[in-house]
Amino acid sequence: MANSNVKPATGKLGIMVVGLGAVSTTFMTGVLMARKGLAKPVGSMTQYDKIRVGRGAEKKYLHYSDIVSMPTLNDIVFAAWDVYPANAYESAINAEVLKEKDIEPVKDELMAIKPMKAAFDKNYAKRLDGDNVKKCTSRWDMAEQIREDIRNFKKESGVDRVVMLWAASTEIYVAPDMKYHGTLAALEEAMKADDTAHIAPSMCYAYAALMEDAPFVMGAPNTTVDIPAMWELAEKTCLPIAGKDFKTGQTLVKSGFAPIIGTRMLGLNGWFSTNILGNRDGLVLDEPANFRTKEVSKLSTLESILVAENQPDLYSDYYHKVRINYYPPRNDNKEGWDNIDIFGWMGYPMQIKIDFLCRDSILAAPLCLDLALLIDLARRAGRYGTQRFLSFFLKSPMHDYTQDEIPVNHLFQQYVMLKNAIREMGGYEADEEID
Ligand SMILES: NC(=O)c1ccc[n+]([C@@H]2O[C@H](COP(=O)([O-])OP(=O)(O)OC[C@H]3O[C@@H](n4cnc5c(N)ncnc54)[C@H](O)[C@@H]3O)[C@@H](O)[C@H]2O)c1
Repeated sequence: MANSNVKPATGKLGIMVVGLGAVSTTFMTGVLMARKGLAKPVGSMTQYDKIRVGRGAEKKYLHYSDIVSMPTLNDIVFAAWDVYPANAYESAINAEVLKEKDIEPVKDELMAIKPMKAAFDKNYAKRLDGDNVKKCTSRWDMAEQIREDIRNFKKESGVDRVVMLWAASTEIYVAPDMKYHGTLAALEEAMKADDTAHIAPSMCYAYAALMEDAPFVMGAPNTTVDIPAMWELAEKTCLPIAGKDFKTGQTLVKSGFAPIIGTRMLGLNGWFSTNILGNRDGLVLDEPANFRTKEVSKLSTLESILVAENQPDLYSDYYHKVRINYYPPRNDNKEGWDNIDIFGWMGYPMQIKIDFLCRDSILAAPLCLDLALLIDLARRAGRYGTQRFLSFFLKSPMHDYTQDEIPVNHLFQQYVMLKNAIREMGGYEADEEID
């Protein structure tokens, strides 16, 4: 850490989570259990990964916390908002992701995490009808109330820094519209005018976070901070933002597997991805307007890995389809099928089938931890605006589409970006190219 220019991670880190459902409670329970030495934070890059720093005879492989100052799991304090009043213990039990034996040892800590009233609008998630909801006179008032929650949490918990993480339900699709989302002034005007069609509740959370000195991470596919108005606010407040959509099961496989096809110069005719899942996330996504948000996010992965313009013979005409089916018996144990129609020498067709019997929240929990810790690191390193080095964790990485910037979806290139950012923040030399 000799040359690191990162401010040290002193004091406590408050992680304020929007949504206290399956993902959030699995994340919180795991952190609390790991603190007691009763579970291992498997899948977390910040807890396990080692990065090479230095070159040749000088090279070493170090954990992130040996390269840059990082908080430990003991430094984390949780807070949450939810539409339903259940505390984190009750919600973890209801979610049925973890066995009771893995929840009971931290029951008291979980029971103490009681959700604050949600900033919610039923039009954005019709299938939810909890009553732990703020009464708001406008979207502006909604943001003001969330700001007050953040200030109160800071005061009561004594945390040194706060980050906000959205792990709440996917909202209906809000297409970026430059009239309302193009500048900060336009966004604020729409919030004051209570323009409920263009200002999602998630935007009020993000706005409040940035106004209260908290970096913001969007774990759902919502377009919340993926609009120029929020980029402007992040620049103005010098805070990092990241999104969108945790890259957990099928898209992780896709962004890791597509490079096999692309590297071996095989052709692609089609990629059909379908899922069955039965948790509350699946229920919300069963609503077409909410699924649309997810579909846009999931579809974006392949096009920047298998690029038609680069290899017209191989990738100019493939059919990419993604489906999610709500199927209650499976609960959180999602099954994701991929059927990949490829072609080889002289155009002869072949098929690859992948059947991933995964656990949604088990895959998402370590991403919550890593994103929260790394966005806090980015802030301490003085980085602000969209954090592209966090693309590794995200299905649909934010990029400046107004400048035709192409997002990096290739898993191994994203990993290089992640490693390079950590190296740079640690005062080491980064590799020059990511490909
Ligand atoms: N688990 C995964 O693999 C994965 C991957 C990518 C993205 N995600 C996203 O993560 C999110 C959480 O997933 P989950 O399985 O925990 O869902 P969940 O339904 O169990 O939990 C979401 C919670 O958010 C609450 N909520 C909804 N709107 C809210 C608001 N405006 N304010 C406060 N709380 C609100 C709901 O009441 C619910 O309790 C979803 O958007 C999902 O699409 C999950």
